[in-house]
Amino acid sequence: MRIHSYRLCIVCAVATALIAIIIALAGAPEARADSPAGFLSDVAPVLRDNCFSCHNTKRKSGKLDLTSFAGLMTGGVHESTVVPGRPAESELVTLLTDAGPRAMPPRDKCTPLPASQIETIRKWVEAGAKPDAGLDPRADIARELRKRSTPPSPPGRYARPVPVTALAFSPDGRRVVTGGQYELCEWEASTGRLTARIRTGIERTTALLFHPDGTLIVAGGQPGLSGTLAVYSMATPGEMRNDVRFLEGSNDRKVLLRQLHDADDCLLAVALSADGKRLAAAGADRAVRIWDTSAGPAVAKSLATYESHADWVTACAFSPSGRYLLTAGRDKTVKCFDIEKNEPLASFPEHQAAVQAVGVFRAGDRGVSAGADNRLRFWTFGSEMKQVNQSPQQRGEVLRLVVDPESGRCVSGSADQTIRVWKGDGGTGRVINDFGDVPTSLALTGDGARLTVGGLQGTVAVYDMNDEGKRIRWVAAPGLEAGAK
Ligand code: HEC
Repeated sequence: MRIHSYRLCIVCAVATALIAIIIALAGAPEARADSPAGFLSDVAPVLRDNCFSCHNTKRKSGKLDLTSFAGLMTGGVHESTVVPGRPAESELVTLLTDAGPRAMPPRDKCTPLPASQIETIRKWVEAGAKPDAGLDPRADIARELRKRSTPPSPPGRYARPVPVTALAFSPDGRRVVTGGQYELCEWEASTGRLTARIRTGIERTTALLFHPDGTLIVAGGQPGLSGTLAVYSMATPGEMRNDVRFLEGSNDRKVLLRQLHDADDCLLAVALSADGKRLAAAGADRAVRIWDTSAGPAVAKSLATYESHADWVTACAFSPSGRYLLTAGRDKTVKCFDIEKNEPLASFPEHQAAVQAVGVFRAGDRGVSAGADNRLRFWTFGSEMKQVNQSPQQRGEVLRLVVDPESGRCVSGSADQTIRVWKGDGGTGRVINDFGDVPTSLALTGDGARLTVGGLQGTVAVYDMNDEGKRIRWVAAPGLEAGAK
């Protein structure tokens, strides 16, 4: 049942994204009868929401790529997609109202566009089908629209908790930073008191970690719509309100130091090498990207992109030397990349189900992965990946893993709400049964002495790894945190 509720929540997440699209559409200004329709303001959002799925740079149905102004004007097989000034001869307009089999979007898969949107596109073609001043015709339209949109503000007080899909201890171990809704929240680790809120404009944070230089690296996005990797600084004083520090990370350049990557789908994972010199990020677009962060994440340089996974990349981890990167995929594999030689090395196929988490031990070129086959699998990596051990079958999917390089222990969180501590060789240790939520994020302090867990229902707990009696727990949603104990 619990697995079901987790699945249900993924369904919910998709539904939420759909609702967001509906709201965005409802809120989009309709072109008034007397004002000419603009390309980016009126036409492009309709194309993005209804046409890009089949007409993009990779999948050009009818040889038509609609994701740039140039692509739209070049047209498809029939070369009469847009005839400026002549809507009746432009298939961009005629196919939208067509009753025959060529109707767009295809009637067997989609509903026709509302008449008002068709009229907007018709007017724009009639007025000469002009792009906006300054728009590079080859620019990716989805990206241009994201650049111009203002992200929503986080709620002042949360009406309901949001899943804590990412969290991290501050480098001194005194604070826990969690991903909220369009923001990050910082809490005192010993009391659960809210200390700061950093507005990011990222709907959902899926991974976050601190660089040794104190900056915060954050990945996330909106499923199916956008993905962001950004670097924040919490060094500015911000504005104090009711003992909470507010930082403006969506446009204040002292807080948002750098947007490292902007993708068309949600990013899901980030990893940093032990020396802080290499950063990796990956996600639903299947790509694994590597940056050189030797001079700090704010001035990171892009190094490489790998597209070896056939589905979402769900997690990644560097080997202790930083030479290898291990990545987990929904394509049921774990892959090993040689970062120095810049090549994919090996693949681990044993899971035969989506892999959701991966970790690497300090010694012996050994790692661990887990996922929807409900088992942790321990393996060696290099030019080959070989299984050396496996855990007994768990009652639920394993969702997250974190390895403590110091002790060689690793901690797993499962959909059955248990959190387990394993010895590096696969032997079992402590089982934590009192979290009371589905663990959707895990992090350890640098010395491995304390563990923090975030949950699907917004729960956050801090455990002492060496003292089973010590635990503190709260709900990581401003306005609702008093609800926990
Ligand atoms: C579900 C997939 C899908 C969606 C969504 C879709 N299309 Fe198409 N479109 C196709 C396919 C497939 C063809 C090629 C049909 C053929 O060859 O007969 C096509 C052909 C076209 C053509 C003709 C290209 C040519 O020169 O022959 C135009 C114009 C077009 N689509 C516009 C649109 C617009 C505008 C939208 C959004 C409002 C849209 N399409 C949404 C699948 C899609």
